[in-house]
Amino acid sequence: MDVVVAPPDELALIAADAVTALVARRPDAVLGLATGSTPLGLYDELARRVADGRLSLARAHAFLLDEYLGLPAGHPESYGEVICRELVDRVDLVRERVHVPDAHADDVDAACARYEAAIVAAGGIDLQILGVGTNGHIAFNERGCALDSRTHVESLTAQTRVDNSRFFGDDVDAVPTRALTQGLGTILDSRHAVLLATGERKAEAVAELVDGSMNRDWPVTALRQHPNVTVLIDDAAASRLRDADRYRAGLLR
Ligand code: F6R
Repeated sequence: MDVVVAPPDELALIAADAVTALVARRPDAVLGLATGSTPLGLYDELARRVADGRLSLARAHAFLLDEYLGLPAGHPESYGEVICRELVDRVDLVRERVHVPDAHADDVDAACARYEAAIVAAGGIDLQILGVGTNGHIAFNERGCALDSRTHVESLTAQTRVDNSRFFGDDVDAVPTRALTQGLGTILDSRHAVLLATGERKAEAVAELVDGSMNRDWPVTALRQHPNVTVLIDDAAASRLRDADRYRAGLLR
């Protein structure tokens, strides 16, 4: 596990460098995309690089981590809409190659299975961007989720719904209770996972990941199993690490 402690704008640059290097090597790379607040700096940077010609995502594929269940089609907070607004419409990704779990399918379980098959058919995810919930969820895998889980329907915890109510006018009742999400097994299959976390509210989850052991109360700790994971955190998110100073100085990775 590679742990980098740096200011948020630098973290965005490091993550953008990883995307840029991958796409230079493999223009039709498969990206895994997260929504939420954390990757917005990265998406701004990708948009800047595409605008000034340093990056093209025209041949890339993308798979979103998750999608709420129960929102009307086109709801501005559905993750399919959010990712278009925050990234897809600002870069040269081709919409047809941007995949979102189908929360409007008649049979959502079949839609989950199709999503897994589509990831495999695309050759697997080369670079998975991840955020983390204050309670340690990644994608929408909440506590207790199995390590080998694949794309599935998940019930959101009360904590996650409270945290995400800021996107729904602070009305927790407006936050869906369920979502379709890539499983921990799906995420562990990615070739490189880049987790971004900023702010003190993420510090406990980050400490569980970096200093703790794998446990089902903190799904983020599944990444301890991943052979190629980069953890990009700011000072506040690193504040509960045993060796924050050494990570900050680049002495420990
Ligand atoms: C979103 C996702 C979630 C978020 C997490 C953190 O696609 O997969 O796991 O990454 O809820 O959200 P923010 O970044 O808003 O704190």
